[in-house]
Amino acid sequence: MEKREHWGSQLGFILASAGSAVGLGNIWKFPYITGENGGGAFVLVYLLAITIIGIPVMLAEFVIGRKSQRNPVGAYHALKPGSSWIIGGYLGILTGFIILSFYSVVGGWTLGYMIKAITTGFRNFSSVEVAGKHFGSFVSNPWYAVLFHFIFMGLSILIVYKGIKQGIEKWSKILMPAIFVILFLLIIKGLSMKGAMKGVQFYLSPDFSKLTPKSILIALGHAFFSLSLGMGVMITYGSYLSKKENLWTSALTIVGIDTAIALLAGLAIFPAVFAMGFQPNAGPGLVFNILPAIFAKMSLGFLWGFLFFLLLAIAALTSAISLLEVVTSYFIDELHFNRKTATVLFGAVIFLLGVPSALSFGVLSKYTISGKTFFDIMDNLASNYFLPIGGFIISLFVGWVWGTKHAVDEIRHGSHNFADVHLITLLAGLKDDPSHNSPVHVWTLASTWGIFLRFISPVAIFIAFLFTIGAIKL
Ligand code: TRP
Repeated sequence: MEKREHWGSQLGFILASAGSAVGLGNIWKFPYITGENGGGAFVLVYLLAITIIGIPVMLAEFVIGRKSQRNPVGAYHALKPGSSWIIGGYLGILTGFIILSFYSVVGGWTLGYMIKAITTGFRNFSSVEVAGKHFGSFVSNPWYAVLFHFIFMGLSILIVYKGIKQGIEKWSKILMPAIFVILFLLIIKGLSMKGAMKGVQFYLSPDFSKLTPKSILIALGHAFFSLSLGMGVMITYGSYLSKKENLWTSALTIVGIDTAIALLAGLAIFPAVFAMGFQPNAGPGLVFNILPAIFAKMSLGFLWGFLFFLLLAIAALTSAISLLEVVTSYFIDELHFNRKTATVLFGAVIFLLGVPSALSFGVLSKYTISGKTFFDIMDNLASNYFLPIGGFIISLFVGWVWGTKHAVDEIRHGSHNFADVHLITLLAGLKDDPSHNSPVHVWTLASTWGIFLRFISPVAIFIAFLFTIGAIKL
């Protein structure tokens, strides 16, 4: 077998993982749920959600990835041969196929809208209603939908084909800084518009009366999705790490970048929405109907529109490559494919699986199961079932089966002076005994992170899961 490729630098690894986490969820979902659920007050709850499930589960994924140096299936197998926990690994690979198949369709729309921005400047998108009609006819056109899905999958394949260092890492180092630059340009533009402050107010001024128990569950579910947890992306990316790298500070940095970009996205969007006298609404409607109507009215609207959809396309692309890498790494490690064949072949399979999703807004829109199109079914199955179930399995596996003691041993590699281990101890309010050397730090880390991973994270994931699937109504 070939020697496993590793990241060229810690920065490359961090940017690639942050690239997976930063996606459509940060730009079209987080700003809106924040504005709706009490602004600044919700941000606090979101930070809590990250602490309860985000960081512990991400660390768990990195640990089993680096320890096993394998894809998700191989990782479970390496750490507990012959156990049925491996189902968590297979579920991850399957989820990779499914999410990428429909994520790429939306990625394709962003490419189409970049072109529309340049060629028309959205000048004919004179109101939200008209923009909505244009959007409807764009996504229901079978040729466009499939063509742009094809191009988007093609871009993902080109990057993953080149491997870890020359493909994923190299492109993450270009695309992630680009996200920051574009966001800042958009924020400056938005904030400089007259009436922008109303948008900032809607977005961030804390309103604790809008913060309900439901907001907490929304925050938990979103933290999980936004950080790309539950299907082994972070296991796979962790498997390309060497023992030098510090897992704990890496996880903190990645979570920090993901949260920062989500917060900044709202500042890029709401000031402009309010300055132009629009009301925000959720999801695709905000991005594809309201914003183009705004660009239509702005001077240089074609440029701002192009930049905004470029931002979305980049965010989607860096997530898509992580999804494809999970699938590819499985076929390379377990079934001995070479990288190039695996990437092209399974990229093509995912493209085909995505075709019915691409057609779900047009020719296939009549074919529904309890009101859900093929696209909706794929999305619902993967995002609402497979990801939380996968995350639940990962936290139980590391917390109870493989065990936090082994896990902490692995975390110790790369945490030289234990300052970081110290921090987690302090965060948990435990006393550190200075008369001991590293073992006591290790044990406090094991016990505090272990408490999260064994009890708090799985319970929180489970409750948030019951809420998203509608078993708990609030
Ligand atoms: N985190 C991505 C976003 O915010 C979405 C996502 C969820 C994802 N799970 C994933 C991306 C797994 C890649 C891999 O949009």
